[in-house]
Amino acid sequence: MCGISGIVHSENVGRNLFNSIRNLEYRGYDSCGMAMLSKGEFDIRKNIGGIDEVNAIEQLDKMNGMIGIAHTRWATHGGVTQANAHPHLSYKREFVIVHNGIFSNYQELREQLMDQDVVFESLTDTEVFVNLLEASYSESNDLEKAFLAALKKIEGSYSIVMLSAHDPEHLYCVKKGSPLLLGLGEGCNYVGSDLNAFLEYTRQAIVLDDGEYVVLGRDDYQIRNVQTGEVTEKSVLHIDWDVETSKKGGYSHYMLKEIFDEPQAILQALKIPSEQISVLARMFTEASRAYFMGVGTTFYVANISQYYFSTLAGQYYASVSSDEFSIVTVEPGDLVLALSQSGETFDTKISLEYAKISGAQTAAIVNVMGSAISMMVDNVIMQGSGPEICVVSTKAALAQTFIMLRVALELGMMKGCLTQDVYQKHQEDLELFPELVQQILNEQSGFVRNIARDTSHVEHWLFLGCDIYYPVAMESALKMKEVTYQHAEGMPAGFLKHGTLSMVEKALHSLFFVPPMGQKVLHDRTLIAMEQVKARGGTVIGIIFQGDERALAACDQVVELPEMNLLCAPLAQMIMAQMFAYYAALDLGRNIDKPRNLAKSVTVG
Ligand code: F6R
Repeated sequence: MCGISGIVHSENVGRNLFNSIRNLEYRGYDSCGMAMLSKGEFDIRKNIGGIDEVNAIEQLDKMNGMIGIAHTRWATHGGVTQANAHPHLSYKREFVIVHNGIFSNYQELREQLMDQDVVFESLTDTEVFVNLLEASYSESNDLEKAFLAALKKIEGSYSIVMLSAHDPEHLYCVKKGSPLLLGLGEGCNYVGSDLNAFLEYTRQAIVLDDGEYVVLGRDDYQIRNVQTGEVTEKSVLHIDWDVETSKKGGYSHYMLKEIFDEPQAILQALKIPSEQISVLARMFTEASRAYFMGVGTTFYVANISQYYFSTLAGQYYASVSSDEFSIVTVEPGDLVLALSQSGETFDTKISLEYAKISGAQTAAIVNVMGSAISMMVDNVIMQGSGPEICVVSTKAALAQTFIMLRVALELGMMKGCLTQDVYQKHQEDLELFPELVQQILNEQSGFVRNIARDTSHVEHWLFLGCDIYYPVAMESALKMKEVTYQHAEGMPAGFLKHGTLSMVEKALHSLFFVPPMGQKVLHDRTLIAMEQVKARGGTVIGIIFQGDERALAACDQVVELPEMNLLCAPLAQMIMAQMFAYYAALDLGRNIDKPRNLAKSVTVG
């Protein structure tokens, strides 16, 4: 994934453009650059590294011009080099572009252009397009025609913003398969991969659809269909995410801020109108078979959801990792529900396409407005959790799980599995959950931090739980791995005695997700496993509920949560584990918001 941005203004916009890609940095951060056009001359600066690193070398924020484009990159074609960084200039220096996505037929086009004596500076697919454009322009001498002609030759998925000295007043933008939004200001307009590109400057936005292109001036814009050339009227959205929500606030890391955003994220999830929840629940009643699909954390959200649907609605739905979805036989009448916070994840998109081609109904729960997945499904619920900047998903994953819980409750009610009273009581508890989460965050973070500090040196962890606490353990182990780089293996507590127990010794630490005592059978099963580890000299940490003396006795250290609704208990434990991973990573000095080798959204296969 990459972040692209463009601004057309009546004043110097160098600083604003720089801020804009800084706000998009979480979309990719291996290299970045900017191009500005002033007095008919391009100033292009780019280099490898994060935005601040590149700025220190290239002084991006000091660039001048009233029109410009910028890019922050996550390499797909061509390694991380200065030449491969965007923006890319055409051979005759007439056009410059930034691009997000992939041109799948670029090799063949590159060879054709080389035959026409074009010399390439980089190995990117992007440079092929900008030269294609230049070649088309030399035939038509019309910028818009050349842009469309070049677009007709390329295949793949992309969003592009182009700037040319032939039209110093406009940016040429197109979207197909990668996100692109417009921001409308006064005497200035913006384009970007997501709202963070321009939220600091305007709250009026237009989400572009696939196959649309825009000629964007400072006071004017025209959106047209690439194929038909027809003008498209689009509604302007007022965005009420405030700028601060996109920033770190007083927290040392986005991850911590986003964990502390969780009460708000749940409140937002509660604000999703019940009709929307019912429409999704109804899709399950109408489906012959239904599947949950997601990958990484969202796969674990799907796994947790399985337990909610089974307990509340008496329905078992398979949950499948998006990257393995091809094993599923999908037929007309089936339902595939995708979970994706970014809405851009390649594996999930591809699997949804497969589901659609197979004739299934599709639905999704997504956090990013205008994202590909949100637009391709038959029914989408926007989770409204606000931007999640940290690469590691916390609030978005929690809110998704909470929304799935709401859907499971609704389905349980529709299917007659729940009485009105039980349903009502659960709804009331869900309404109280944001406040409870706030209380837990305030009261427990100190305890969690201390345990994390004491144990951050531990290189191998087992994360264990029974029933719904098993996927909670799996998700928590993923959090631990990705942010601390230490090994954590999530597994069902009942698995231990079937092999893993042989690893147990003092140095091996186990984190147990202990259910409330009210869930007697589960609680017993978990305690048995804990006692097995303890008896063999293993070190045991427990996330337990107050008053659980037996668990207390089996643990070396505990986090104790207040009593709560049984449906909310796994969510509260998930939050504690997020915090545990955060503080362990802090102690280890890890790059918390951007762990090594990871990108926020994995838009390539
Ligand atoms: C882990 C994490 C990833 C994502 C996965 C899918 O913290 O965030 O595992 O869950 O890459 O991404 P989305 O949810 O955007 O489809």
